Amino acid sequence: MPTPVPPPASAPAEPSSPRNSDLVRAARRQPVSRTPVWFMRQAGRSLPEYRAVREGIPMLESCMRPDLITEITLQPVRRHGVDAAIFFSDIVVPLKAIGVDLDIVPGVGPVVAHPIREDKDLDQLVELTPEHVPYITEAVRQLAVELGPTPLIGFAGAPFTLASYLVEGGPSKNHEHTKALMHGDPELWDALCARLAQISGAFLRVQAAAGASAVQLFDSWVGALSKADYARYVQRHSAAALAAVADLDVPRIHFGVGTGELLRLMGDVGAEVVGVDYRVSLTDAVERLGPDHAVQGNLDPALLFAPWEALERRVREIVEEGRHAPGHIFNLGHGVLPNVDPDVLTRVTALVHEVSAR
Ligand code: CP3
Repeated sequence: MPTPVPPPASAPAEPSSPRNSDLVRAARRQPVSRTPVWFMRQAGRSLPEYRAVREGIPMLESCMRPDLITEITLQPVRRHGVDAAIFFSDIVVPLKAIGVDLDIVPGVGPVVAHPIREDKDLDQLVELTPEHVPYITEAVRQLAVELGPTPLIGFAGAPFTLASYLVEGGPSKNHEHTKALMHGDPELWDALCARLAQISGAFLRVQAAAGASAVQLFDSWVGALSKADYARYVQRHSAAALAAVADLDVPRIHFGVGTGELLRLMGDVGAEVVGVDYRVSLTDAVERLGPDHAVQGNLDPALLFAPWEALERRVREIVEEGRHAPGHIFNLGHGVLPNVDPDVLTRVTALVHEVSAR
């Protein structure tokens, strides 16, 4: 009898598996059939079907119900034909899950009852374990089945952006309390960010372990920092969050707004893909990042309100710039604005697919 041949250590993915999708392939700088597209905040108020299922249900409650998470995550995939689903949740969900007293106030954003300003305030931040978020595991598992070959992107907030909400107590334009703490008490700052890196990393790991095919770490407000402060106070904490999924074979995307000066340092934290906002061209971003990173972006979300001819011209330019990148995932430079006409997003998705078909 012939000896059975053992399977290779890393079996090749099925052709129709999310691991072989254009999104995952672009993230890994492998050839794609066409440029993959998804939109930050694609699941949300721009969709009438989202507003209908959310009617009367507070944001945080909807983030803890697997049936709602699954439905809302699937809505933009059905409607727009995008190449990935982004898990419906929020960056503050893991904080709520470990018992931090906070809420998401409509039209405002996350509001924290007891802002973190001194050592004893850190007691609020206990270690996150999968037992804190069973509804996340359940929803991701359900979504992985429902989505079939379409990849699911899991996400978390990065330590700096989470720290900003926790220290300010809510959304902030100038991040003054956050910067005062960072510079005035670097030890407390590092202790705070170390705890947040554990929480973010564990939240990413729960999603990747349950079936997410890629993850994105959002450091939305880190563009408020200088390069020197980013290197000194932030970079290693973001790296620690991403290191939590390093062994799980999921590509990691790292994004922030206004980060032109920080792109290279952000690329160095262990992300395969760096998100680029609309202020920096993809060509300049690739020059800053070098050949070892794919890029994601970078249509100005406000251009979705421009006449189609102007929007089409810009989309074509971005796809063309992306062809010269080591890998490109089409996205906006930041999230979908709530009052956008969703048909425009569908049309942009189709256009990117059409002009990028290889
Ligand atoms: O499609 C998706 O991207 C859905 C999942 C998602 C949400 N929040 C849902 C949400 C993701 C990835 C986020 C991340 C998030 N949350 C970030 C990083 C991304 C970014 O935009 O920079 C940040 C900074 C937050 C904090 C936050 N939560 C803000 C600023 C707001 C908006 C407040 C408002 O009402 O204008 C939220 C609430 C929130 N998170 C909504 C959604 C759909 C709106 C709540 C609602 O529909 O009632």
